[in-house]
Amino acid sequence: MPLLEIKDLKLDFIVDGASVRAVDGVSLRVDAGETVGLVGESGCGKSVTALSIARLVPVPPARYVGGEILLEGRDVLKMSRQELCEVRGGVVSYVFQEPGASLNPVFRVGTQIRESLKLHQPLSPSLSPSDGERLAKGRLKGSYDDEVIRLLKLVGIPAPESRIRDYPFQMSGGMQQRVMIAMALASQPKLLLADEPTTALDVTIQAQILDLLRELKERLGMAILLITHNLGIVGDMADRVAVMYAGQIVELSPATDLVRRPLHPYTRALLASVPKLQGNQRRLTAIPGQVPSRLNEGGFPAGCRFAPRCPKVKPSCSEAMPELQEVEPKRWVRCPFWD
Ligand SMILES: Nc1ncnc2c1ncn2[C@@H]1O[C@H](COP(=O)(O)OP(=O)(O)OP(=O)(O)O)[C@@H](O)[C@H]1O
Ligand SMILES: [Mg+2]
Repeated sequence: MPLLEIKDLKLDFIVDGASVRAVDGVSLRVDAGETVGLVGESGCGKSVTALSIARLVPVPPARYVGGEILLEGRDVLKMSRQELCEVRGGVVSYVFQEPGASLNPVFRVGTQIRESLKLHQPLSPSLSPSDGERLAKGRLKGSYDDEVIRLLKLVGIPAPESRIRDYPFQMSGGMQQRVMIAMALASQPKLLLADEPTTALDVTIQAQILDLLRELKERLGMAILLITHNLGIVGDMADRVAVMYAGQIVELSPATDLVRRPLHPYTRALLASVPKLQGNQRRLTAIPGQVPSRLNEGGFPAGCRFAPRCPKVKPSCSEAMPELQEVEPKRWVRCPFWD
């Protein structure tokens, strides 16, 4: 059984009385211990897809229209509040883009991680069950602190014994993101949903955080759904990559294949726009045109949504929506003209 299996997920936002489809038939599997990348331009539905996994998109304005989100075989969209709490605490955790915005500025980082621990993990594996009972009764604050320090060490924060008394503003952006990752790990998730975890950081710190995620994944055996608009990053980190465009998956391939030989014209355009620091390519390449807007036209126009921007467009492209098809072993493409 896959750890996560999203089947034909459809989600609308109700904006000014009109339905706007943000996720349109997304199917995606993540196996235990696997890293899957989710890439695509701003607004294509990456975050909404990821947030749906723990049903964190606010309803309204959102409306789940169809599909299933199976976590260890159980459909998140049918879960009770209690079951959802268990999932959010024990199966999935999130790391978001802006650590500064996610940490509470008025509490010490140690306190924030401790609260996260209390919430999610009354029984720590490093403690005996009897410790756990006493912990649950709140008589073992010292042990929680040990666990906080262990987590901070795990995410590579030097001198964690003293850093637990820091306030977030006393830490750099990279350190804050490490704290956020420590908080996410407090619940020992099987699936870490990392939504642009390094976008707000400078390039060297970015590389350090990505190394950390890779190392943690190895050590803890968790799966990661890594969301980014940077194909360079997923090529390095992910086993498989799903490329989204305007609410749909347009290509799903093993990461190395996708980077070496992208098949969908949109993936090719995205790869061409990854900035390169070496060689003679000094300029940034942009994909011409814009993601089609669905608001004013009462939905997307018929046919392939990338057609208006596609260099390989044919007259038939604007007639019917192409299916996502397996065109080579393990390679799925939503374009009949991929070759
Ligand atoms: N709360 C909301 N109300 C209305 N529309 C929303 C809401 N949240 C997201 N959307 C819309 O859903 C679509 C998908 O948004 P989403 O945040 O998933 O994009 P994204 O791929 O994560 O983009 P980015 O790379 O900028 O983070 C967008 O068109 C967005 O405007
Ligand atoms: Mg997003």
